[in-house]
Amino acid sequence: MPNYFITTLGCQMNKNDSERIETMLRGMGMDLAETEESADVIVINTCSVRQTAEDRVYGFGRNFVELKKKNPGLIVCVTGCMPGRDKDSRLRSKLVGVDLYFPTKDMVYLPQWLSELNPDLRPMADLEKDYLSLKPTYQKKFQAFVTIQTGCNHFCTYCVVPFSRGLEVNRSLQTILTEVRDLAVGGCLEITLLGQIVNHYQAPDPEHFSLGNSYQKNDFAKLLWEINAILGIQRIHWTAPHPLYMNDELIDALTILPKQVNYLHLPVQSGNNEVLNRMNRRHTREFYLDIITKIKARKPNIAIGTDIIVGFSGETDEQFADTMSLFAACDFDISYHAKYSPRSGTVADKVFPDTVTMERKKERWWKLQVLMEETVLRKNQSYVGKTISVLIDDAKNGWCMGNSPEMKRVQCMGGEELVGTIQSVVIERAEEWILWGQRK
Ligand code: 5AD
Ligand code: SF4
Repeated sequence: MPNYFITTLGCQMNKNDSERIETMLRGMGMDLAETEESADVIVINTCSVRQTAEDRVYGFGRNFVELKKKNPGLIVCVTGCMPGRDKDSRLRSKLVGVDLYFPTKDMVYLPQWLSELNPDLRPMADLEKDYLSLKPTYQKKFQAFVTIQTGCNHFCTYCVVPFSRGLEVNRSLQTILTEVRDLAVGGCLEITLLGQIVNHYQAPDPEHFSLGNSYQKNDFAKLLWEINAILGIQRIHWTAPHPLYMNDELIDALTILPKQVNYLHLPVQSGNNEVLNRMNRRHTREFYLDIITKIKARKPNIAIGTDIIVGFSGETDEQFADTMSLFAACDFDISYHAKYSPRSGTVADKVFPDTVTMERKKERWWKLQVLMEETVLRKNQSYVGKTISVLIDDAKNGWCMGNSPEMKRVQCMGGEELVGTIQSVVIERAEEWILWGQRK
């Protein structure tokens, strides 16, 4: 039986897209290969957010040429954000050994193209044109990603997403709720809703909201209330929201809903207003701090995470110092730091020169990293002695691990049989990235 191997780079949405690709490859009668070397079809789902992610794909290219010498029938497919933004095939011309190169939204044609290249592979009948209607091959029974929206209309000046994934498209409320209900019936406990600006979700079919939910105006908050009511689902998580749309209704949902995880990932990108303005973020430092203050006033123990870009065009030491002070004011539990990487096609690449040297970017990156590790270590100590609920997602050598509602990684003794269950764990010791404890 022919088999496939999928490599996914980038964000959780790419992971969810790969789960849809997997559904088609299985539907064509293929099996998962143990290694890339033994596969007949290789799929690379690419990320374009930074140059380093694209460079990895060029690196893979050289390997494909070698693999094809050993297996001349090998078909290599490259999809995701790289083909999505590569309107003039400039990136493709630098890639070697690739047979199929298509943006995410065209994945539904993959079975047809594969069967044309290899007649032993049978095509799949009756695929809808909308790739989101494909059912993902969920990697775990108890946890699932649910993409509710793709693309983005916001055009932050540094960001390639509106080019690679197109403008915002919202999935119908009915199909989202059906997917979540089916997942719940199948034993799913935790749902992660995905969107580029997830809290800008606008239902194309609002008539499917429950009657009791009709007094609210924010569709995303309403969606959270709907999912909260689905029997079986225990945890609701979402990523990534934009500060502009964190209105009071959504803050209510975040802080009131019993199934909502006790974590919010809210990208800020910079703590300086001039930089935020050049980034076209459309919010200020004060606006962001206000939201965090409001949320913490209602739920003081909520964990908050963010994304920060260091060394954006023209960022001075003083402007970076504002990012450091914003970090301290927010007391983030986790923060993903990126060195600014100019992306061709974006406004920033056209009008703001990449003036900050790599040395400076690295320096700033490390400063933030050190501040984060100190902050997290200090904050994690407050969990010692407390009992927290942990959704166990993995087990190895007598230890099992999982996330707390604050998305802290917890490790305790236990075996495979606990995977997919929620356990109460008393925390005994806290490190930066792991809370160690014992099951109650
Ligand atoms: N350079 C560096 N980081 C970037 N990000 C997005 N675009 C760029 C870029 N051009 C970061 C942002 C975003 C995260 C997904 O990636 O912080 O929130
Ligand atoms: Fe990119 Fe900004 Fe849209 Fe996020 S909100 S995907 S950073 S353009």
